[in-house]
Amino acid sequence: MIARKLTLGEWLAAAKLKFQKAGVENARQETEYLLAHLLQKNTAYFYAYPEVELSIQQLEQLEAWVKERLAGKPLAWILGEWDFWGLTLEISPATLIPRADTERLIEVALDLPLVPKARVLDMGTGTGAIALALKKERPNWQIDAVDFKLDAVRLARKNARQLELDVRVWQSNWWQQIPPQTYDLILSNPPYIHPDDPHLSQGDLRYEPKTALVGGEDGLDAYRELLAPIQNRLNLGGYLLVEQGYDQSLAVAELFTHAKLRDIKTYQDYLGQPRVTLGCKT
Ligand SMILES: C[S@@+](CC[C@H](N)C(=O)[O-])C[C@H]1O[C@@H](n2cnc3c(N)ncnc32)[C@H](O)[C@@H]1O
Repeated sequence: MIARKLTLGEWLAAAKLKFQKAGVENARQETEYLLAHLLQKNTAYFYAYPEVELSIQQLEQLEAWVKERLAGKPLAWILGEWDFWGLTLEISPATLIPRADTERLIEVALDLPLVPKARVLDMGTGTGAIALALKKERPNWQIDAVDFKLDAVRLARKNARQLELDVRVWQSNWWQQIPPQTYDLILSNPPYIHPDDPHLSQGDLRYEPKTALVGGEDGLDAYRELLAPIQNRLNLGGYLLVEQGYDQSLAVAELFTHAKLRDIKTYQDYLGQPRVTLGCKT
């Protein structure tokens, strides 16, 4: 029950305090996201007009979101969308909320010396984040994307439609339903968390589907699947580029070597942790 009306400034201050008391890390940013989402305005608006009054209905909606957030629901799920590489993507409980770390994969991919009409495959596409970011930057690349979850496939297709980016998305359990064609670049941010990792019971990871997070008994199963036929799937001079856990770079590089990929390189994320592995078919 809302006791009295509040202005934008008052609501922001009160909600921030509530979040801070509950130990929410980015209290100010989170309250701003909620208000911006409700009003469909950017943050400049409510700092320019802090005296604008919120209606009781708006306050009730905000209160409901604050309650959900304090109960642990990911902010992105409350908003129903999340930004990745400057694209606003619809998200859903079917798959991972795109992470900023994955933007490293995009940066590395864009630096590769590929042919202008490169054929590219994003495996385990989820929201379509990687495929769509690349299509935005390189409209001439022919980009395919797969996920084994039908709901994720539908979501990626919807995001592609809404963003008017021409990416082909279909359902496949890794390579199983992918036609026998070869690619210049294959990328993946696969499930790679070790099943015993305590992070799985913390923060947003508690809510996201295990199918998007856990990479088998040692966290590396997906890499083995991706690598098994890789020599038959990459064009000569083609690349495999994957995201991995900060403590998996040596193990992943070893798997790449075993699959006879060459010029293996590891790239760091924005926190300086090894996060992305690249290998080439020579
Ligand atoms: C870590 S999420 C990455 C999602 C998205 N690429 C991103 O970076 O935000 C891993 C994705 O792989 C998909 N996946 C898991 N197992 C798969 C399999 N056997 N075949 C295809 N996709 C799979 C999951 O459904 C999930 O969408």
